[in-house]
Amino acid sequence: MYLGLDLGTSGLRALLTNDQGQSVASADHAYSTAHPHAGWSEQDPQLWIAACKKVLNDLRDTAPEALAQLKGIGISGHMHGAVLLDKALKPLRPCILWNDTRSHAEAAQLDAHENVRTLSGNIVFPGFTAPKLVWVKANEPDIFEKTAHILLPKDFLRLYLTGELRAEISDAAGTSWLDQSTRRWSNALLKVGQISENQLPELVEGSAPAGSLRDNLCADWGIGQEVMVVGGGADNAAAACGAGVLQEGQGFVSLGTSGVILVGRNAFAPQPETAVHTFCHAVPDRWYQMGVTLAATDSLNWLSKIAGMPPSKLTRELGAQLKPPSTIQFLPYLSGERTPINDSHIRGSFVGLDIAHDRADMTHAVLQGVTFALRQCLEALRATGATIDDLLAIGGGAQSGYWLQMLATAFNLPINVPEKGEFGAALGAARLAICGVTGREPEMVMAPPDIAETVLPDPQLSAAYNSAYEKFIKIYPAVRAVQ
Ligand code: XUL
Repeated sequence: MYLGLDLGTSGLRALLTNDQGQSVASADHAYSTAHPHAGWSEQDPQLWIAACKKVLNDLRDTAPEALAQLKGIGISGHMHGAVLLDKALKPLRPCILWNDTRSHAEAAQLDAHENVRTLSGNIVFPGFTAPKLVWVKANEPDIFEKTAHILLPKDFLRLYLTGELRAEISDAAGTSWLDQSTRRWSNALLKVGQISENQLPELVEGSAPAGSLRDNLCADWGIGQEVMVVGGGADNAAAACGAGVLQEGQGFVSLGTSGVILVGRNAFAPQPETAVHTFCHAVPDRWYQMGVTLAATDSLNWLSKIAGMPPSKLTRELGAQLKPPSTIQFLPYLSGERTPINDSHIRGSFVGLDIAHDRADMTHAVLQGVTFALRQCLEALRATGATIDDLLAIGGGAQSGYWLQMLATAFNLPINVPEKGEFGAALGAARLAICGVTGREPEMVMAPPDIAETVLPDPQLSAAYNSAYEKFIKIYPAVRAVQ
């Protein structure tokens, strides 16, 4: 048996699988995020530990025999967060999360340094880890002084499970401290980021051993044998392992809180000026690239709150068959935007509202705005030379058949819908543990899911969506000038 733990932004998911990676049992526990000031986003790392105890206790209650046979654990987690520990390994402050934009000025300052983009492979985005430390140094000098260890969120969970301090390469790739071509910490980047290598743990690959489950936890959960905890992966890398996206030509579109288009790359081919993210994969010698729009289902959830109607009802009002593009354009920049504009100050807008427009028109416009923002990600990925012939649709928003037709038509690509089941980051993490314990090759363990349906572009509507997209991309510069 193997366990995948996915430390998500809104909760922790634990998935127990058999040796073939098939789901045996699962448990989830939610936690909250604090937003003490505009643009701030923090979590108390102790919430993750409490959630971990809760899901493991639930698994012990629901599947005790399976849990007793556990051989390996993989952990995935939300990227870029800074967990700062003192010498006694105690958190010094809440973790500053990936969607916290307080350090935008520090990010711009680091990004302007020569070689930073070349070595790290990316723009230094405000949500990345390095600018957070520069912010802490300037604004909370006492805490910075006491920071003996810096961990990414899932690596703090590993510390609890194993007592070991380790970093893992796919997650380290989102810090702006890693030389992504050599997959090692970069002295030059650490110097620019004003931290020392002593504050960072040793790096391991995602499927490499990174500690053993502590004896007291084995006893609590009824496990008699040694359990290997592998490196694991950043949530996006682990999701790619879960969806079988390892190679050039494979990719997914994820409609989650944020929207992501992720493609596998066999070589390191960064192109930071496109605002595409290039990160080391959780499997050795592979990279992946992704474009990110920050508010995907978040945009629909926002409309749902205002309309007083659940998101699924809003999308059902649109009917079954894709309609022509709306004349309302929605810019989904509710929390700023990453790819391709890298603008943490911009905020969303509706353009072209008519007195005859109703709630369904607004819903259509919101889906369309997110779809067009993702098309910009697709174009940016193509500009880096990535091959994209079709995409697998994952994430909560992919439940809407209407949205899938819109994606296929606006992207002019087939969109594959997986059979119901597990293919997310928790499965990816469990699969990394299977590779670590058995020594099997990732390709043997990380198959893509079976496809339930392929949604094709609507040939009657492709041209209309294309010209609406051409108009969409002209709006941002105009709005930027007045915001
Ligand atoms: C990736 C990113 C998010 C987080 C949270 O760059 O910021 O996808 O990993 O899921």
